Amino acid sequence: MKIGNLLYTGKAKDVYSSENNDNVIIKFRDDITAGDGEKKDNLQSKGECNSLISSKLFEVLEEKGIKTQYIKLIESGLILSEKLEMIPLEIIVRNIATGSIIKKFPFNKNQEFNPPIIQFDFKNDEYHDPMLNDDIILALKIANKEELKEIRKISLQINDILSKFLKKKGILLVDFKIEFGKNLNGDIRLGDEISPDTCRFWDIKTLKTLDKDLFRKGEGDVMDVYKKVCKLIVSEEDLKKNGELIWH
Ligand SMILES: Nc1ncnc2c1ncn2[C@@H]1O[C@H](COP(=O)(O)OP(=O)(O)OP(=O)(O)O)[C@@H](O)[C@H]1O
Ligand SMILES: [Mg+2]
Repeated sequence: MKIGNLLYTGKAKDVYSSENNDNVIIKFRDDITAGDGEKKDNLQSKGECNSLISSKLFEVLEEKGIKTQYIKLIESGLILSEKLEMIPLEIIVRNIATGSIIKKFPFNKNQEFNPPIIQFDFKNDEYHDPMLNDDIILALKIANKEELKEIRKISLQINDILSKFLKKKGILLVDFKIEFGKNLNGDIRLGDEISPDTCRFWDIKTLKTLDKDLFRKGEGDVMDVYKKVCKLIVSEEDLKKNGELIWH
């Protein structure tokens, strides 16, 4: 497949045009950042690893009827997706209290949220991604009432589907961040990525961290853990087809 022009570049991925104007090619880079972009590194194979994990999780969601950007994994590191106009919201779904929420509010560390909490942050580096509420979202015209309702509903469905899938793989889905966008018809689709960069995954038995928190805290070998997650989530067959570069 021919990769077109670079449309834009983010902190961990590049978005390229493709032969078809409706689609884009998302390249997962090895860059990793934390703390509002202040902490940075480059971890060999992270991009390939995350692209395989994200592909698998988007496939799981599509199978369960969630409408997403996902078209196919071109090769490890490159995903063909529907082109979206991104909605500048970071939708954070939380099942367990940890991270920024226990710094901002008097929740007990590791308390369960049942029902899960949905938090909306403004995806805007200049304003440092502040937390929003519905009225601010409506006043800023980021989304309208119906769109917000739809985004909430899909986000909870995604939480249910992924929590169940990951549980079977020995992973507890603690919380995650997703982004939505609109395709050329104006329909809302799940975009961006779902990976250890954007989720908190804990080992279901030991409750050990299997995600970017290791990098945030400077603990342990981040890539060791990302590769472990990749092996748990991605089928042997897909790893054989696409994962050679990661493992050798
Ligand atoms: N299907 C899509 N069509 C168009 N743009 C997309 C699509 N999926 C994701 N994007 C956008 O691609 C950009 C690149 O992703 P990346 O995660 O590297 O950047 P970032 O979001 O600026 O960084 P960070 O996630 O660290 O804040 C993001 O702005 C994301 O919203
Ligand atoms: Mg991003």
